[in-house]
Parts: sequence; C-alpha cells; structure tokens
Amino acid sequence: MSSELEALIRTIPDYPKPGIMFRDITTLLQHPKGLKLSVDGLAEKFSREEIDLVAGIEARGFILGGAVAHVLGKGFVPIRKKGKLPHVTLSQEYALEYGVDHVEVHADACKPGQKVLVIDDLIATGGTAEAGLNLIRRLGGVLVGAGFVIDLPELGGAERLRKAGVHVESLVS
Ligand code: PRP
Ligand code: HPA
Repeated sequence: MSSELEALIRTIPDYPKPGIMFRDITTLLQHPKGLKLSVDGLAEKFSREEIDLVAGIEARGFILGGAVAHVLGKGFVPIRKKGKLPHVTLSQEYALEYGVDHVEVHADACKPGQKVLVIDDLIATGGTAEAGLNLIRRLGGVLVGAGFVIDLPELGGAERLRKAGVHVESLVS
C-alpha cells in the first residue's frame, strides 16, 4: 500500500526554498483511492486503541484528521495556528527554522481523561506535532498516539517522539 501512496505524492524541488524537496499531498488528496487509502490506513493503525477524539493540526491535518474522525465515529478537535480560534485558548510555542510560532487549542476542546489521537499529514522535525501533543496533555487529555501519512525520517521527528513514549504511525517513509 505504501508504494501506491508514495506514487501519488508529488515532489516539488526547491519549494519553498532552494534545496528543499517539498512533498506535496494535494495530488494524493485529489485521487479518490489515494484519499481513501490514506484515511483508512491511518484509522486502521489505531483501530485497536480506545479513542474519544481525533485532533488535527492546521492545515493539512484538518483534511486527514477530520476524515479519520469520521471513519472512527469520533469527534474532531482543531489545533490551529496562533490567533485563529475564537474562544479561550491554550497556546504552545514551537521552533521554526528561524524563530518560533505557536499552535493553539480551545481550552474546553477535551475533558481531562479523554483519549485523543493526533493526526497531521507529515512529520519532519516533529516540532509541530510535539507542540500539538503538549496541548492535548495540558488539557488533561490522554494521548493515544500520533499518525501521519508521511514521515521524513532523516529529520528525526518520529524517532524523537517514539523515544519519548508516543505511539507514532506513518504510512509512507
Ligand atoms: C507542515 C506539515 C506539518 C509540519 C511538519 O506544516 O503539514 O504540520 O510542517 O514539520 P515539523 O515536523 O518540522 O514541525 P506547515 O508548517 O507547512 O503549515 P501549513 O500546514 O499551515 O502549511
Ligand atoms: N511537505 C509538506 N510539509 C512539510 C515538508 C514537506 O516536504 N517538510 C516540512 N513540512
């Protein structure tokens, strides 16, 4: 299955900067079977876990996380970039190549003890995912795991999260 998915991911050289090989999932998302394999594949990886909510990280994690939540029959929680959520939020800083940014979640997005699966399209350094996981923990949520369509292993994010005890799954490496 992963080679089928891999073939549907477009690689754009030198985007957004020279030297970066950007893995573009728009080609995968627009392909009916590609989208289905991605969503069902992620849901299957966590099908033996107890889950109350699926959280998706803006922006591409909304597309996949929303669909995974639907397949699992659970609710969805958006983890958004700074300043986008209208109610009271918790904010978590994460490192960018130059500087920092923040992701936020509504303070009432999950109740203490609820079991939350976090979904994004891709893990690279793991900074974004780690910030998302921290938000869930700070809400008192129990982190079930983190699922990604793509892992870029040379950037070490998935390995770092695994070493910290997180159940990490990806479909394409
Ligand atoms: C991308 C991707 C992940 C993150 C992974 O999002 O969708 O969220 O980067 O990188 P990391 O593991 O090194 O943190 P991006 O920051 O481009 O935001 P966008 O989805 O809003 O475009
Ligand atoms: N594609 C999409 N998002 C990313 C990438 C990529 O190759 N690298 C870091 N974030």
